[in-house]
Amino acid sequence: MLLNWIDASQYTIDCFLLFDRWALRWIFTDLNKANWFSSEGRDYKLEMAKALFRYPYVVNYVRRKAPERADFLDEIQSIPHGEWSEEEMRESETYILQRLESFVVYAYPEVMNEVNYIRNWDSKYLYELVDLDGKLVLDVGSGTGRLAFAAARKAKRVYASEPCDCLREYMRDKIKAEQIGNVKVLDGDVKDLPYEDDIFDVVLSGHVVGDFYEEEIAEMTRVAKNGGWLVICNGDDEFKRTAPDEELTSRGFEWFRHESIEGGMIYNYRKQVLK
Ligand SMILES: C[S@@+](CC[C@H](N)C(=O)[O-])C[C@H]1O[C@@H](n2cnc3c(N)ncnc32)[C@H](O)[C@@H]1O
Repeated sequence: MLLNWIDASQYTIDCFLLFDRWALRWIFTDLNKANWFSSEGRDYKLEMAKALFRYPYVVNYVRRKAPERADFLDEIQSIPHGEWSEEEMRESETYILQRLESFVVYAYPEVMNEVNYIRNWDSKYLYELVDLDGKLVLDVGSGTGRLAFAAARKAKRVYASEPCDCLREYMRDKIKAEQIGNVKVLDGDVKDLPYEDDIFDVVLSGHVVGDFYEEEIAEMTRVAKNGGWLVICNGDDEFKRTAPDEELTSRGFEWFRHESIEGGMIYNYRKQVLK
């Protein structure tokens, strides 16, 4: 789904140089399988070939950073070229960047902070969902720290797990600038969290769970204490959802909803962990 978080014409594919290995691994694979690009009459590999043709150093970076994607890059680079105009290549570059906009904003945290679901979000929605006072909290896939910093105003300590280096650095700079003493920023994939079992009173996430529900919820449950809470607290966007997420309700999550300041219907979720 196109979210229009950025105007891709303002960016270049140089931003790939800021992407982590896991993101490159995700991008340089056959997305056509999901009919994402072909549904728009585009061939992903051809668009990528055109987009990258003027950026051999970006291709070199991807080869070094994610060598497991060498076959995909070989295929792109073997596509016959020479007939492409500057305009055509730029159009493909913009097209690719717009479709990969979520990754682009991860490289520009200040831009990410201004996207629909973050910019006007009110932390009261988090506080209504769960008691954070004095608690040990994990925020999974923290991004710019929307939930982690809100939780830190009440919690004893918050661990902000985030797999994007640019975003980890953004949060660390904020912690330093604002002298926030109870937030610790670490790496971490929702399916493979770098914590022992049964540690956290509350495990938070927002806009992270959803690709692999079973594994993601199992891993969040593993690091939560018996009697602790899993909380999914989404931001305030404009999408007019009409029902809660069945994948979550069927796994025992309670849901709450409110109309957001952006005009959308927002569903939030929580589940007590009983081991
Ligand atoms: C849409 S943003 C949401 C950021 C933040 N949770 C919020 O709601 O404001 C998704 C975040 O999840 C992170 N992410 C992506 N894949 C992830 C994974 N497999 N495990 C953990 N975090 C992931 C991204 O780097 C990004 O920071």
